[in-house]
This record gives sequence, structure tokens and C-alpha cells, in this order.
Amino acid sequence: MEHAETTVLTASKESRERAERELSAAWRAVMASYSDESAFSGIDPVALREEMSGINVLPDEGLGYDQALSLISKEVLPHMLRTWSTSYMPHLHSPALTESLAAELIISTYNNSMDSWDQSPAATEVELIVVRKLLELFGYDPAKADGVFTSGGSQSNLSAIVAARDAWCMRKLGWDVKKKGNPGCYKRLRLYTSEISHFSMEKSCHMLGLGYDAVVKLPVDSQARIDIGRARQQLEADRQAGLLPFCIVATVGTTDFGSVDDIAALRDLADEYGCHLHADAAYGSGAIMSRAYRDRIGDLSLADSITVDFHKMFLLPISCSAILVKDASLLGCFELHADYLNREEDEEDGYVNLVGKSMQTTRRADAIKVLLSFLTRGRDGYARIIDHVISNAGHLYAVLSADDSFICPVKPTLSSVVFALKAGDEVNKAVRRRLLAKGTVLGQTVMDGRVMLKATLLNPALDEAGLDRLVALVKAEGDLVTKGR
Ligand SMILES: Cc1ncc(COP(=O)(O)O)c(C=O)c1O
Repeated sequence: MEHAETTVLTASKESRERAERELSAAWRAVMASYSDESAFSGIDPVALREEMSGINVLPDEGLGYDQALSLISKEVLPHMLRTWSTSYMPHLHSPALTESLAAELIISTYNNSMDSWDQSPAATEVELIVVRKLLELFGYDPAKADGVFTSGGSQSNLSAIVAARDAWCMRKLGWDVKKKGNPGCYKRLRLYTSEISHFSMEKSCHMLGLGYDAVVKLPVDSQARIDIGRARQQLEADRQAGLLPFCIVATVGTTDFGSVDDIAALRDLADEYGCHLHADAAYGSGAIMSRAYRDRIGDLSLADSITVDFHKMFLLPISCSAILVKDASLLGCFELHADYLNREEDEEDGYVNLVGKSMQTTRRADAIKVLLSFLTRGRDGYARIIDHVISNAGHLYAVLSADDSFICPVKPTLSSVVFALKAGDEVNKAVRRRLLAKGTVLGQTVMDGRVMLKATLLNPALDEAGLDRLVALVKAEGDLVTKGR
């Protein structure tokens, strides 16, 4: 490397100008590929793979930034999924609030890491004040509760289940899992959750050495919520059979339907059977900001732990999530001291090393995104966004329910609507594929063995007129498929 070559940011005028020029060029490239009407170029996977395989990923001699960006602008950006488009609605995958793009720039430029205070002094203190605000928002006592940011809902759920398993084993068996591993009776440990809960339940139990068999899937009612009567029967039967219920998970916003389990009833069951109650509110946590619909998620403070995802309803860029626990000691399962990182004597002197609460070591300063958006929007600004997307779902449900061509079995609680053309599974599948090729991206799932389409309405730029156009589009495409065109 030549001595004069610019590598990382320095105080020199040249280095700063270079970074500014590169960032501006990247922004212009993104804007050049911007389109609001369609979310996707429609290219098919084989053609896209062929295009990509033509790229010489690691040339001997670097192309230089301008040429490298130009290549990416030509080959990659046109086929990126445009999450900001109002035609994008398949998944719990949101567009990003504009100020959060600026937050990402700040986070990446400083590149602080949240494991130890000496790697992230201000960012650590930001995470502490943001977590404190979250504890208050969700009704926990900040003096007793705690939380930590994670990479996403799956990791938040895993963290909660590790904490639940460890605490249960200590409380019921006097067994220290952290030191000794799973207890001898581990094959009998059971976690109870909805049959339509997120698959991170199974993945977590696998990683905990309990296996998928430890996950008991509880049946749901016609509105996609855990059937409480049948849940009680299952728990009772399992107890009689000598199984060991250690955790119940309430889904507060199921992935497909946005349905919300009855947290108060599940709290009663958890108390009756001596279980930890976790609320997987990866989706529904955003509704805490709503003025009109907040009560739809129930009282989450009844849960012992809560998964909050900011890269879903809160509209922040991936990744951004937190796990909150009612009793701070629950996060003690992740505490471990390393001489190089989180020395006990430093902590005694007031240096907080957040690695002690997290399964990650190096970790992004994601709480800064939350702080910037909370400050920018305030409670009212966020409430307007959340109220709007939930109200959109109500509108779409009303339009579909009034139209004879569709079925729409579950009334939306949050911002998702699952529906199908009555014309049958093959027509619904074909409609989704054809719309994808035209840049409108809908989700697809299965309900009671039937193929369903799914509109996950997280984009606040979408309005009722846009949803009416969507319904007309799906119908028109369905007609074409039925007529074989
Ligand atoms: C209910 C629920 N929980 C957890 C997750 C996992 O979240 P993440 O994708 O952030 O890991 C999802 C993802 O969609 C979800 O819908």
C-alpha cells in the first residue's frame, strides 16, 4: 500500500472530502434507482443469478470507488427490493424512516461496539436511557427491570428462552444450567406457544439442547389466537404425564395475521403452572405508540419478558431489536467476565459493559436509531404512523369482506390482512407470482390448508385509494389467470 493512499477517515481535508464525495455519489446512485410505483424490477431468479455471476468479485487491481460504484449501480441496485415502495407488502419488513438513514450513517461512521464502555462510551449511555424509556413504555418498573438491544426478534426470543430455562431450573430444581448444562430431566422440559407462533421458538429450543420436541404448539381459535381452554387442557395433561412446563410464549402480533394472544389469560396459566411468560411482541410492540389502538396488544407488563422489534412496525432499518425483562436478574445468564473486556474492578467504578447482558460480543449501536427517531417524531408523530397503518388494515379488510370474489377470514388486530380469491389455490399462487414480476409484492401463506395472500401494511405512505387499487389489481390478475391469459 502506498503511503499516501486514503484508507480510513482522518482529520485531513483530503480524507474528509473523499468520504463526502463517496457518500454523495452513493446517495445519487440510490436515488437514480428510486421508483415508488414498483417495488421490484421483476427479473426472474435465474436471469439475476446469471447477471451476478458475471461480476469479478475480487479483481487483482482494484477498480477504484467510482468504477466499483458504477458497476454496483448498474448490476445490483436496479434489482434491489425497494422497501419504501407502496407496492411492497409481503413481510414484516418495513421501509425506513428518513431520519433513521441518517442514524445509520452516524452508527457506521463511528463504528462503536456495545460490548464494553471503552468501545462505546456515549452509545452505551444512550442504550441505557433508551432501555429505561422502553421499560416505562411497556409498564415495567425501571428500578427492577432491565433490557438489552439485540440483532432481531429471533435473538430476543432466544435470549428470553435461555433466561426462562435457566431461571426455572434454578428455582424448581436448584440446578445451575450455566455451569452444569441441562439438568438430567431436560427431555421433559416443555415450552408452550401458539401453533402459528414464529419458528424462532423451535430454533431456540434446538439451540438450547432441548430439541423441537420441547415446543408444544397450542391450537388457535378462528381469529388466530391461542385457544385458552385447550391450552389449559394441554398443560394439565402434560403435567399429569410428568412433563415439565417451564415457559409459555404469548405472540403479540402473529407473523401472518397480526393476531394477539390473550396475555392476561396466559399470565394466569403461567402462574398456575409455575412458568415464565414471554411476550413475543416482535410485531405488535409498535402498537404501544398508538393512541387509538394501543389496547389491542393487551397489558404487556404482565409478561416476564418482552421482545420488541424496531425493524418492523417502528420502521427502523435492520437490525434493531430489544429484549426487556421484568426482573433484571434474568439477564444474569449472559454475564461472564473476560480479562480483556469487562473487568469487574472497572464495573465497580461505574463503567457499564453491556456485554454482560448480551449473547453478542461485538454489537452495533442500534439504540442511537431509536433515540433519533423518538426525538424526531415524539409520541404523537409515532402515534400518527401506527394509527394510520392499523386503520389501513381495517379499510382493506372491509373492502375485501364486501367483495364476493374474496374470502378474508381473520379481522385484523394490527396491520396485516390475509385473504384469498375464491377461485382457488392455483389462481392465488399464480396471481402472486405474476404481480411479483410486475413489481407488486404480496405475501403468501396457508390457512386451514388453503393458499392465502397476505398484505402486511407497514408503509405509512400507503393510503385507502392505494389499497382500493390493489384490490382491483388482484381481481384483474385473477381474472386473467382464470381465463388462461
Ligand atoms: C412474531 C415474530 N417473532 C419473531 C420474529 C423474528 O424476528 P427477526 O426476523 O427480527 O429475527 C418474527 C419475524 O417476522 C415474527 O414475526
